[in-house]
Amino acid sequence: MSPPYMLLGILPALLDVASSANIFAAHYSGTINSLTLTSSSSGAYSLSLNSSLSIGGQPSWMTWDSASRTIYMPDETGWGSASSFAVSAATNGKFTLLGKATGLPLGGVANVVYGQTSTISTLKLPLTSSSKTLQSLKYTMNGKGTIPSRQDAPHPHHVFPDPTGAFLLAPDLGADLIRIFKIDSASGKLTDCPSYVEPGGTGPRHGVFWGKDVLYVGNELANTVHAFAVSYPASGCLTLTRTQSLTSLPGNKTAPTGTKIGEVHVKDNFLYVSNRRDLSFSPNDSIATFSLSATGAMNFVDIISSGGTYPRTFSINNAGDLMVIGDQTTANVVVVKRDPVTGKLGPQLASLRVGVTGNAENDDGLSSVLWDE
Ligand SMILES: *[C@@H]1O[C@H](CO)[C@@H](O)[C@H](O)[C@H]1NC(C)=O
Ligand SMILES: *[C@@H]1O[C@H](CO)[C@@H](O)[C@H](O)[C@H]1NC(C)=O
Ligand SMILES: *[C@@H]1O[C@H](CO)[C@@H](O)[C@H](O)[C@H]1NC(C)=O
Repeated sequence: MSPPYMLLGILPALLDVASSANIFAAHYSGTINSLTLTSSSSGAYSLSLNSSLSIGGQPSWMTWDSASRTIYMPDETGWGSASSFAVSAATNGKFTLLGKATGLPLGGVANVVYGQTSTISTLKLPLTSSSKTLQSLKYTMNGKGTIPSRQDAPHPHHVFPDPTGAFLLAPDLGADLIRIFKIDSASGKLTDCPSYVEPGGTGPRHGVFWGKDVLYVGNELANTVHAFAVSYPASGCLTLTRTQSLTSLPGNKTAPTGTKIGEVHVKDNFLYVSNRRDLSFSPNDSIATFSLSATGAMNFVDIISSGGTYPRTFSINNAGDLMVIGDQTTANVVVVKRDPVTGKLGPQLASLRVGVTGNAENDDGLSSVLWDE
């Protein structure tokens, strides 16, 4: 073996010894958990449960503010009047509950509206027991949508700011709209901009910006990912122009009935999409990888096993060498390797069951995962 090869062999091993990372995992049964990922000098990874805090309700999502080490979590139980938890992240592996409030927070962090409500609510931070909703926008529809069982009413599923911070977007699964709001920076108040209208039965669910000029939205009902060019007219509202529509399976194959795209995330020039209930690696589901051209055009690369069923959320670490996947129904946290250069995922490094498993299509099991960094 020539010296360069030896170096290549030894270096990762040395890095492995030093690598230990923490992961947060929320469970629908009302807990938030801290997990530690460690690796031995042989390169074997393992996940262990560090601590667990019971906060009650049905925590459905987590938004992480790294500066204050605070996790904001909406509760899915209170339809229409969801309460929110703020949890300070683990110190020595332990969480502290900072506050609970009614409504959903917005301010220094983006948050999400989750569940069966037709309302987008905003709150001023910090959250306290006396926090009041700053604004509550309630939407209605004239009749049901193209897929009546899922589109009986507007269901804004995700709320996130654009990279300039001047606008807020909300893919609305029930109304087949991408809602756009202008944010008044002084008051925090939202004003409606014209929505982007998707074809009936698209079911936009989750979005992510790539730079400020490209947006990707994962569609839960059509099981497609749409790419958009984003414009910022000098005075007025952010506008979207759709540039591409692809499924998240090889060869632009239509997803099997029952599949529901979960989340979309970007890292450098790659886009990742979780396919819930596609059973591509039966009984397990999949995560799809796309490479992105200089202009943001999506090129399908491949799919890998999610290592469980119903990968509701996933997150890539800052170094870009690991992805954590939260498989909802099997309630396991899965860590897979990611090549920061090629964007390729796999193999699976570790998996740990957290809390009780759920039932397909139910609001139980693991709800959300993220890296503590
Ligand atoms: C638990 O997590 C903390 C960080 O929050 C870390 O310092 C500690 O080493 C972890 N403990 C175990 C047993 O993994
Ligand atoms: C891929 O499939 C989707 C959904 O069937 C369709 O809308 C889109 O036009 C297809 N794209 C290409 C490039 O074939
Ligand atoms: C599904 O995932 C589990 C847990 O990660 C793993 O043990 C199992 O081998 C996987 N099954 C397939 C067919 O990929």
